[in-house]
Amino acid sequence: MGVSYDKFLARQKQLAEQYDEKYYEKQHNRGKLTARERIIMLFDEGSFEEIDAFVPSAGGSTFGKTTSSFGDGVIAGFGTINGRQAYAYSQDFNVMGGSLGAVHAAKITKVQDMALKTGLPVIALIDSGGARIQEGVASLNGYANIFRRNVLASGVVPQISAIMGPAAGGAVYSPALTDFIFMTEGTSYMFVTGPDVVRQVLNEDVTPETLGGAKVHTTKSGVANFVYSDDANLILGIKRLLTFLPSNNIENPPFVPTDDPTDRIEESLRDIVPEDPDKPYDVRDVIRLVVDKGRFFEVSENYAENIVVGFSRIGGYTIGVVANQPKVMAGSLDIDSSVKAARFINFCDSFNIPIITFEDVPGFLPGTDQEHEGIIRNGAKLLYAYTRATVPKITVILRKSYGGAYIVMNSKGIGGDYTFAWPTAEIAVMGPDGAIAILCRKELAEAEDPVALKKELVAKYRDEVANPYIADEKGFVDEVIDPAMTRVKICRLLKSLDKKSVSLPRRKHGNTPL
Ligand code: HXC
Repeated sequence: MGVSYDKFLARQKQLAEQYDEKYYEKQHNRGKLTARERIIMLFDEGSFEEIDAFVPSAGGSTFGKTTSSFGDGVIAGFGTINGRQAYAYSQDFNVMGGSLGAVHAAKITKVQDMALKTGLPVIALIDSGGARIQEGVASLNGYANIFRRNVLASGVVPQISAIMGPAAGGAVYSPALTDFIFMTEGTSYMFVTGPDVVRQVLNEDVTPETLGGAKVHTTKSGVANFVYSDDANLILGIKRLLTFLPSNNIENPPFVPTDDPTDRIEESLRDIVPEDPDKPYDVRDVIRLVVDKGRFFEVSENYAENIVVGFSRIGGYTIGVVANQPKVMAGSLDIDSSVKAARFINFCDSFNIPIITFEDVPGFLPGTDQEHEGIIRNGAKLLYAYTRATVPKITVILRKSYGGAYIVMNSKGIGGDYTFAWPTAEIAVMGPDGAIAILCRKELAEAEDPVALKKELVAKYRDEVANPYIADEKGFVDEVIDPAMTRVKICRLLKSLDKKSVSLPRRKHGNTPL
């Protein structure tokens, strides 16, 4: 091919020469992999195709800082991950702090547009100082273009963001609009305004870590869903998450045949709920005994721990699990747990993932704090999410199912497809103590021994009212089952609900409580 081929090779060499030893060292010394190493690790070997590797930066100069690089600080393209097609981009902190200029943004929006056209997931590996200062408003517009596409792609293709360094300023809002956020421990942070601004405006001394590190966002703010010890483990986490997801909202999630028998009778489930209704247990033990091979991929594990959500499979079907956690705050619903579960349900519904609810909930958490912070508005998010979801929705009532929480946790009245109850289920307007205090106030006031009388009345209430059989007789529970049969029953039901089809009234969109 002669001269033209030589020119082609020279350009390839130029690309490789961008990365000298110092380049790798700089990033490795920060405890991070380079943008390209991350891409190589994410995609199946040799499958990555890079787009726009040679585009130069837009230029521009402020305070003597110019912008120049080819590729403009982001690697963008597509390939296969676990054999399935996906798009991704990876920001290069070594190029102007991974900051986002016009060309950098255009590469990202190109990938977003192609992913949307082709119905494929987008994975964003973020390591960025935010809008590139020297390019001014053009970089702000770049972010605007990315955000618009994040919103258009929401519920159409899965969007996953990984924060693998700073995500400052504009860099935080694209992840916030995507479905899941991963962070690395100690090397990533997210904030809209950094420690310097916080110091200037509020006179507060904070470090990047205390302001917006992985711990803060996975335990306190709930902004991020997953934390991993380093880049390599985080990338494995993304790959695992993708195994549960369809490529777009028209496909079904992957069906993965299992050698865990669908007729497995799990006798240990009979003893998992303690006799004493006030005694806690770990609902994750129930989940693991029911699902295929005990494999459960938990989402937002360290945030609002009174509710457990995550992905798993039963009989090969991918499912989303929502479960009250009696081990934390007795499994009661508060603001954070309502929002956590609502968002997860919205995701499952967008991507055709059936939802299995394991219920043991004494009610909404009472108190001035919760009321003043808006438990009404926030609890409504969960109610709205369950009600709107049209995917198969199955409930297993393990123990408590009281009051408003009974209704919200996928009751048949709001559209739950099928409700199983274990014999330990207690379904009523309120728990025995509260109910007896109200119903028998007079008798208790007049009793010689009110403590003994209350004990007796509570036992009677539990026996006559707070059980699964009244709800069963009224059809609000479809079947009271032997706990050992839970897996078998869910397997059968998932098969029967596989072709479920429900359409909602025509509308532009509902007005979800916010
Ligand atoms: C241009 C930037 C940059 C930016 C970093 N750099 N951020 N260049 N625009 N936004 C450059 C630095 O000049 C430096 O270049 C190199 O990247 C590495 O940065 P350092 O500061 O040396 O690194 P480090 O100490 O690790 O600190 C990283 C950082 C810090 C925390 C990200 O750089 C920082 O605070 N940057 C600004 C963050 C920010 O406030 N962004 C908001 C932008 S406004 P040299 O040449 O010296 O190597 C915004 C608005 C959008 O995003 C809002 C939408 C809602």
